[in-house]
Amino acid sequence: MNEFITLEQIDRAVDTIRGRITNQPKVGMILGSGLGSLAESVEDAVFVPYSVLPPWPVSTVEGHEGRLVIGSLENQEVMVMQGRSHYYEGYSMPQIGFPVRVMQRLGVEILIVTNAAGAVNPDFEPGEVMLITDHLNLLGMAGESPLRGPNFDQIGPRFPDMGFAYDRKLGELTRQVAKESGFALREGVYVCLAGPSFETPADLRFLKAIGVDAVGMSTVPEVTVAVHGGMRALGLSTISNKANLDGETITSHEEVLEAGKIVLPRLTQIVTGVLQRL
Ligand code: HPA
Repeated sequence: MNEFITLEQIDRAVDTIRGRITNQPKVGMILGSGLGSLAESVEDAVFVPYSVLPPWPVSTVEGHEGRLVIGSLENQEVMVMQGRSHYYEGYSMPQIGFPVRVMQRLGVEILIVTNAAGAVNPDFEPGEVMLITDHLNLLGMAGESPLRGPNFDQIGPRFPDMGFAYDRKLGELTRQVAKESGFALREGVYVCLAGPSFETPADLRFLKAIGVDAVGMSTVPEVTVAVHGGMRALGLSTISNKANLDGETITSHEEVLEAGKIVLPRLTQIVTGVLQRL
C-alpha cells in the first residue's frame, strides 16, 4: 500500500458506511485497550467491520475488537471505534489517522479518545482517569506525523495550529461530570511513544523531566488528524500502571487489560456524562 492515503480512499469508506446507516453521527469515539465494552451500550447499533473499509487499519492486539458501532448513546448520534490500531503494528501514521479522516468526511464534529496509559506522574494511581490537557508529540517531532505527505486542503490547512488541541469546553464538562460523580479526576500531559516495548527506567526519567504525566502508544496521531480537520477533541487516559521509574517493577499487557476492567465503570460514567451535556 501507498504510504499516504488519498481522498478517494477516504470517500470510498465513507460511501460504504453511509450505505449502511440512516443516522448522522456527530460524535466519534475511539476506545483503547480493555475499554471497548462501552460500545455495547450503543442503541440501534449498526456494526461495520474494519475489514470492509480498506485501508482502515485492523488491530492485531488482544483487547481490541475490530469494528465500528454506529447508533445512539445518551441521545447522541455516535460512531464508536471498538478497537484501534497502533503504529507498532506496522501501519503508517497516515493510515493510523485514516479512521478520523473518514469521521471528518462523514460530518463527525467531536472526537472522544480513550487510552490506557502508564503513570509517569508519581501522584497518579492505577484505576484513576486523567483528562489529557495537552500532549507531547515526540513521534511527530521525529518526523512521524500523520499529516506528512500531500495536504488535504478540503479538510484542513497545511500548517494547523495545535495550541488548543484538547477542547477546553469538553475538558470543563469532564471536570463537572467527575465532580458530580464524586471521584477525583487527574489532569496532565500525555506522550505517545512508538512502542511496543514498555519504557526503560531511563526513558521514564527522561519523560518525567520533560513534563510528561502519562505515557502510552496511541491518541496523539488521531488527535493531530482531528485538530487538522477542525474537530473538537477530548482525550481521556485511564491509568493502568505506575511507570517503572526506579527499575523495581514489571509492566505487562495483562496488567493493562486488568486495570482497564477496574476503571471501566468510571470511564463509562465520564463519557456518558459528557454525552448527556453536549
Ligand atoms: N507505557 C506505555 N504504554 C502504556 C503503559 C506504559 O506504562 N501502560 C499502558 N500503556
